[in-house]
Amino acid sequence: MPYAIRVHQHGGPSALRWEPVEVAAPAGAQVRLRQTAVGLNFIDTYHRSGLYPVPGQPFVPGLEGAGVVEAIGPAVKSLKPGDSVMYCKGPIGAYATHRLIEEDDLLRLPQGVAPEQAAACLLRGCTAFMLLQRTFVVQAGMSVLVHAAAGGVGALVAQWAAHLGARVIGTVGHASKASLAASNGCETVLVLPEEPDWPARVRTLTDGQGCNVVYDGVGKDTFTGSLDSLRRFGLMVSFGQSSGPVPALDPLALMQRGSLFLTRPSLRDYIAETIEYGTAAAAFFDLLLRGVLKVPIGQSYYLSDAATAHADLEGRRTTGASVLIVDPQ
Ligand SMILES: NC(=O)c1ccc[n+]([C@@H]2O[C@H](COP(=O)([O-])OP(=O)(O)OC[C@H]3O[C@@H](n4cnc5c(N)ncnc54)[C@H](OP(=O)(O)O)[C@@H]3O)[C@@H](O)[C@H]2O)c1
Repeated sequence: MPYAIRVHQHGGPSALRWEPVEVAAPAGAQVRLRQTAVGLNFIDTYHRSGLYPVPGQPFVPGLEGAGVVEAIGPAVKSLKPGDSVMYCKGPIGAYATHRLIEEDDLLRLPQGVAPEQAAACLLRGCTAFMLLQRTFVVQAGMSVLVHAAAGGVGALVAQWAAHLGARVIGTVGHASKASLAASNGCETVLVLPEEPDWPARVRTLTDGQGCNVVYDGVGKDTFTGSLDSLRRFGLMVSFGQSSGPVPALDPLALMQRGSLFLTRPSLRDYIAETIEYGTAAAAFFDLLLRGVLKVPIGQSYYLSDAATAHADLEGRRTTGASVLIVDPQ
């Protein structure tokens, strides 16, 4: 019997309920997927809490997963039952043992990659590609500031930027995460609670100049400091808000700090075209399979226990990537 985590009313982690569900036969270009593992991403907490809108209630959260094609609709062209696939562009509904999804939303699982690994890192890998190659092109010798550098996206961005030859300064929220951030390629790690004036430290570390680009997924708590850490014409990439929404900004704040640029990218836009989806995933898995990038799974949970996973993610108790393993049936 298929099961899913459903949200009937927005709220805290206890709003996530494990329930039996019906999954119809696939129609048109739909595929019915038996999932092996599901990605746990911060955006899932925004959908659960109501910070980001969802289509209606009850809804099944989650944008990322991996598994095996169980059945195909009559218009499916490139997949057959038994194929191993992965996805990270939604639509929402991944927290389930089985689901329907359009053929175009799926990618083939690369050879040598386990479904648990794919579900833990595809979305973050594509996000890192977007941040380092599309919102801005990081080049050797540039200075890059990466917040939450021991977290999921932050770990990959730091590793990838270091591989590109950038000088990476990472931040973490607790001293216990500093060595992990350093192992992700950060030349210097700033433990933010111990650095009340961390933008000044960033300037000192960059010969008084500031960084070329800041990758800020933390939001409310770091946004202004991030602007203060940029050099003239630097780019502020505000890509998330794990500490809360960023307050409204007067454009003069950009002018006063050196004619800065600001962008607020969403992966959904950057992988909307099938070709870009495939390009981002291929670039990421190429580096992963060559051992350039490492994505140790920091923690795994049964899908039925998604509430604990959400509480840990929001409580800053996770490091690196997390994955939800579909319960044995
Ligand atoms: N724009 C996009 O398309 C896109 C795509 C993927 C992810 N994202 C964003 O990227 C960010 C990271 O996502 P992730 O899934 O990889 O999560 P994550 O980085 O593994 O976890 C979030 C981290 O944020 C830090 N943090 C700082 N203040 C926090 C607070 N008040 N509450 C909770 N965490 C806080 C914590 O690290 P420290 O304790 O070290 O500070 C925490 O571990 C999220 O904001 C997410 O929404 C955006």
